[in-house]
Amino acid sequence: ELKENTVIIVLGASGDLAKKKTFPALFGLYRNGYLPKDVKIVGYARTKMDDAEYHKRITSYIKNKDDEEIAPKLAEFIGFSSYISGGYEDDESFQNLNKHIESFEANYQTKEKNRLFYLALPPSVFIPVSAHLKKNCHIKDGVNRIIIEKPFGKDRESCATLLSSIKANWHEDETFRIDHYLGKEMVKNLLVLRFANVAMSAGWDKNSISNVQITFKEPFGTEGRGGYFDEFGIIRDILQNHLLQVLSILTMERPVSFAAEDIRDEKVKVLRCIPPIEREDALLGQYVAANGKPGYLDDDTVPHNSVCPTYAATTLWINNPRWEGVPFILKAGKALNEAKVEIRIQYKDVTQGIFKDISRNELVLRIQPSEAVYLKLNTKMPGLITRAIPTEMDLTYKRRFAEAVIPEAYEALILDALKGDHSNFVRDDELDAAWKIFTPILHWIEGRHGPSPRPVPYPYGSRGPKELEAFINKYGFKRTTEGYNWPVTNLA
Ligand code: BG6
Repeated sequence: ELKENTVIIVLGASGDLAKKKTFPALFGLYRNGYLPKDVKIVGYARTKMDDAEYHKRITSYIKNKDDEEIAPKLAEFIGFSSYISGGYEDDESFQNLNKHIESFEANYQTKEKNRLFYLALPPSVFIPVSAHLKKNCHIKDGVNRIIIEKPFGKDRESCATLLSSIKANWHEDETFRIDHYLGKEMVKNLLVLRFANVAMSAGWDKNSISNVQITFKEPFGTEGRGGYFDEFGIIRDILQNHLLQVLSILTMERPVSFAAEDIRDEKVKVLRCIPPIEREDALLGQYVAANGKPGYLDDDTVPHNSVCPTYAATTLWINNPRWEGVPFILKAGKALNEAKVEIRIQYKDVTQGIFKDISRNELVLRIQPSEAVYLKLNTKMPGLITRAIPTEMDLTYKRRFAEAVIPEAYEALILDALKGDHSNFVRDDELDAAWKIFTPILHWIEGRHGPSPRPVPYPYGSRGPKELEAFINKYGFKRTTEGYNWPVTNLA
């Protein structure tokens, strides 16, 4: 249930995240009736501007704003949105923000008060802002919540420092750490697919599964974001958080209940069974100019000799009875041939003897675009000859749920935070376990233990480094027999 008497404060209101994700999500929620009654939204940032200018800006962030159905809703949304400018490091600014929030609270009919602070800010100000908010804007007689988002440090140690500085002021119950992959429909579906289906959960282990790939592909480079990216690299940008989150839900044991702590306990448990990644279990790449597109090093904001990987494939092992010996290959890259995020579970070979050259079963969960679950299944070719061919059982959302509107990840997550549900947010010990797996290899890449490894080049717009095929095969992956193509491309 949504609480009345709520003020949502977006700090960093003129930044990129607020523009691309936070405001569109808040508006999406409002439009569909998912914001609390009489909610107020306050933007806060350093830029000085009046409400009129601010309203113009947030209007420009919304898609299809002139649509007949959207325009009147947007006018209402603007009507309860206001803006305050101020610094990130001084009490006075935050006292000013507090007064502004109080001016709404003065009109409440009931005692209840809720403040949700959304930090759409660069990591350099997470600590001062969270401290100033606590000191100047945290109310004693109400509910206070804070949302923050990665990067949560750069390795295990810096993450611990960041978390403890925030914890000095904000209780774990009040803190919502976003990994927006946890808000994606197909990622949320994992719990249901796994635990509501006996047919799925049987065979969900090392006895049946040969290898698993979790893949993230983006068709564009770091254009314009090179400065940020070079400091972090693809492992910190995608693998250590988004793909590892997917992995933990895919492999955890069944939680005692759907309660947030029960789910997160199981995720932490499985993460703690994963040893740090070995150097030989990593393939690193960097894109180079091709087809008229610039290479990573051609970006002016990137140091000319950077060895920062824009592509990484890493293999993780889970040392527990269910998964021992099964390779989990997490791979992600920028500037590839397509946009796609999927989980591919490849089953073992069928026992030899009666079939020759038969394809393996594969269960594919496509997270985006065009959500789908399909199982590659060998079937007798219909007719008078006895021959097995690969086919599929196919659950494509656009077909099966033609009318359904799939919410944006940020809509789902902001709604959860408004309700105080932590299930889809990252707990502190989860982050520590995640960093433990990736920290040694990140330090190696950064050259802390000798020269940095050189990423292999791959052309902009390609499938990734040519070394990838051999890398995957090393872990037992076998390609489906030639000629098989899942016939869904026309729906994407
Ligand atoms: C962000 C990364 O966390 O996720 C970006 O910083 C990446 O580099 C983005 O583009 C991908 O998110 P989505 O939802 O488009 O898959």
